[in-house]
Amino acid sequence: METEVQNKMLSDADLIERVDANLRQFLSFGMWRSLGEAVNYAVFSGGKRIRPVLCLRTCQAVGGDIEDALDAAGAIELIHAFSLVHDDLPAMDDDDYRRGRPTLHRHTNEAMAILAGDAMTVQAFRLLAASDKHPDVSIRLVQILSGMSLEMILGQVHDTMGDLPEEMEDLERLRYIHNHKTGALIWASVEMGAVVGGATKSQRDALVEYAGRLGLMFQAVDDLLDVTQSAEKMGKATGKDAEQGKLTYPGLLGVDGTRAEIDKLLTQAMEALSGFDAKADPLRDMAKKLATREK
Ligand code: IPE
Ligand code: IPE
Ligand code: MG
Ligand code: MG
Ligand code: MG
Repeated sequence: METEVQNKMLSDADLIERVDANLRQFLSFGMWRSLGEAVNYAVFSGGKRIRPVLCLRTCQAVGGDIEDALDAAGAIELIHAFSLVHDDLPAMDDDDYRRGRPTLHRHTNEAMAILAGDAMTVQAFRLLAASDKHPDVSIRLVQILSGMSLEMILGQVHDTMGDLPEEMEDLERLRYIHNHKTGALIWASVEMGAVVGGATKSQRDALVEYAGRLGLMFQAVDDLLDVTQSAEKMGKATGKDAEQGKLTYPGLLGVDGTRAEIDKLLTQAMEALSGFDAKADPLRDMAKKLATREK
């Protein structure tokens, strides 16, 4: 069957199954007993798998084969999983629940959560290194994932400790933090999919524009759900951003202002895809789904 026809027939659930099978097989080597258990607990725990799906759907949008992007998709999810394990630590957001069950440091202990996060980071790059891609593609993937992981960490530093120039306006500061702590990994997901799929320069430019808007929108929605949704529904504590004095969209713009900002970012993300054909429809659907998600 033609790649394009094959790709079109795959649902997001099919994609997630493939990413998970690939990750499970990869993670079954190189980790032992309690470390392996901790990493598996953090990785296979009902995450929405938005980033791997974005990576695969981007590859599809530029005419690539989804199978070729499975390792990149797994690698990005490992970095995301590590970021959440560390985000939940007492020294950071100090959260006890994630995805409806105890956070890793509650399930095991802090030392293990720190070490499992370290292991996930290393495994992400080991997965890219083990992938049978042309060296030019492999190097590009490592450049994107390492660069964007560092941006994410920078965002987490500013989210947790401030340390941005005093003359920055609040909204500018908020966008800077959100673009880094959350936008960077969304950006990496899309850019890696574009590289594996063989995107042209103009396709890549349009896709990173889409990813930039989507990343900011995704964190705006996360901030909104923190004030509008129950902990039961979210599977993680809510109402905590204000309690911890975080800079958030609802904190600055209010609930209605945040909704308006989400609509604006969604429109911009959709506009960025205007030059793409129906192969980009899953990316369009993803943007709409993420703008209106309730958990
Ligand atoms: C949560 O990300 C952290 C943010 C960047 C807002 P997700 O909402 O994608 O988390 P999971 O993986 O689905 O739990
Ligand atoms: C998390 O942002 C961003 C990263 C983990 C990089 P949040 O702290 O808002 O995410 P949640 O609300 O705990 O999922
Ligand atoms: Mg946080
Ligand atoms: Mg948090
Ligand atoms: Mg949040």
